[in-house]
Amino acid sequence: MINAENINKYYGKFHVLKSINLKIDKGQIVALMGPNGSGKTTLLKCILGLVIADSGEIKVDGASIKNNFEYRHKIGYMPQTAYFPENIKVKDVIQIIKEIRGEKSATDFELYEYYGIENFTDKKISSLSQGMKQKVSSALTFMFDSDILILDEPTAGLDPLSAEYMKLKIKKEKDKGKLIIITTHILNEVEELSDRMIYLLDGEVRADRINDSSGTKNRAESILEKFTDLFKSYEWK
Ligand SMILES: Nc1ncnc2c1ncn2[C@@H]1O[C@H](COP(=O)(O)OP(=O)(O)O)[C@@H](O)[C@H]1O
Ligand SMILES: [Mg+2]
Repeated sequence: MINAENINKYYGKFHVLKSINLKIDKGQIVALMGPNGSGKTTLLKCILGLVIADSGEIKVDGASIKNNFEYRHKIGYMPQTAYFPENIKVKDVIQIIKEIRGEKSATDFELYEYYGIENFTDKKISSLSQGMKQKVSSALTFMFDSDILILDEPTAGLDPLSAEYMKLKIKKEKDKGKLIIITTHILNEVEELSDRMIYLLDGEVRADRINDSSGTKNRAESILEKFTDLFKSYEWK
């Protein structure tokens, strides 16, 4: 479904992504992990075509994303921080996104309803708390029933119940056969949700493991234990 071959990205002289090779299939939840600054958001943006890699190729469903805009319709993206225009109302933001994505493709209002967004659609974006913006952003991400969901720290800033609901929703979408790529720093979330864990460190894939504890009773090995070697090497670098 997504195939990244030898992706390199520089910001000036800074080598942010170093020869990334990944093949990601549908019907799973992939957790992209790694410390702050390890390149997670940059990699997601490369997949989305928002950042252009300096070398390498990314294919989505077999087609190169270079000069290709169509593939983006397959993707729902929830950025780490949503920047909506401050001076307009929530309902206007939703309307604008619907118009961009195609009015009729807005079919999934589950998060919209659960988060009670209807109750504050007349508020201006500038008056919303960070958590409320996060809710608007997530409702919009899921609204268009996209085959691929890319969620950059989706539960950060959400109250605990809302975060739980988001996790349920993510699992539900996976069960429909979708691909979900999620970054999070919450290890419990990774263990609970993901089928595969990819660990980035200094722009390199340092580990790529199947999460065999997910959904089974055998959770003896915690994520921390699994990655002990990596955390150690990072600490002493
Ligand atoms: N637009 C940019 N210009 C210059 N450097 C950037 C830019 N975006 C990210 N970086 C740098 O690239 C590195 C990786 O950032 P990022 O992908 O956001 O990491 P993560 O999401 O893992 O925290 C960081 O050192 C960050 O400062
Ligand atoms: Mg990030």
